[in-house]
Amino acid sequence: MSGNWKMFKTPAETTAFFEKFLPLAGNATHCEVVICPPFTNLAAAVDAVKGSNVQIGSQNISWAKDGAFTGEISGPMLNAAGVTHAIIGHSERRQFFGETDATVLKRTQGALEFGITPIVCVGELLADRESGNTEAVLAGQFLNGIAGLTEAQFAKIVIAYEPVWAIGTGKTATPEIAADTHRAIRALVRAKFGKDAADAVRILYGGSVKPDNVKVLMAQPEIDGSLVGGAALDPISFASIVNF
Ligand code: PGA
Repeated sequence: MSGNWKMFKTPAETTAFFEKFLPLAGNATHCEVVICPPFTNLAAAVDAVKGSNVQIGSQNISWAKDGAFTGEISGPMLNAAGVTHAIIGHSERRQFFGETDATVLKRTQGALEFGITPIVCVGELLADRESGNTEAVLAGQFLNGIAGLTEAQFAKIVIAYEPVWAIGTGKTATPEIAADTHRAIRALVRAKFGKDAADAVRILYGGSVKPDNVKVLMAQPEIDGSLVGGAALDPISFASIVNF
């Protein structure tokens, strides 16, 4: 289960979150728990989760190890700060910050090179779904992005399927829609990387996951976990998602 805090919370609010969250879900062993706060809160978050089973991720990562890349943070920097995961290619970064399938691939390769686990996001717009283009759009994102990895690299990534129309809108994909789409993504993986890779890859669902819908989503064998935005900001609601 992953939480994406987007551009919310200060370091003090981060510490306060973990004071409430850790007693409720800090020792979870039935799944991995990763929380991805803004860069300015990573140090406070890493500090807060020491000794627990919670891991900390960033919301972006550079492809380079260092250099003239104003506004970027690199894998070695994140590593040195105790960060283990990075969200890559979130739809908000694709929509507002010019992220493309090509930069998603480069960032994913960069993360892997420096020992950070990429959580690579894919997802279609409402217009894509309504025009029946969901699978074509996902195939494009996959083939122009993730498919550029080697088999060994692919084995280390997590995929997050986030239909853009379900993000922050309160409109969750039905468990059937989510499962069907996960199956389509797994078929792309099978065609490119083989059956074992397709069986092994974890595909998270994201988009308006809440304590009251997590159970029906997770009942789908195709759905391996979730990437939670709004509901991950509250310690009690995220703990109940983790412990559903
Ligand atoms: P949401 O966001 O849970 O608030 O819909 C999910 C995400 O953008 O990762």
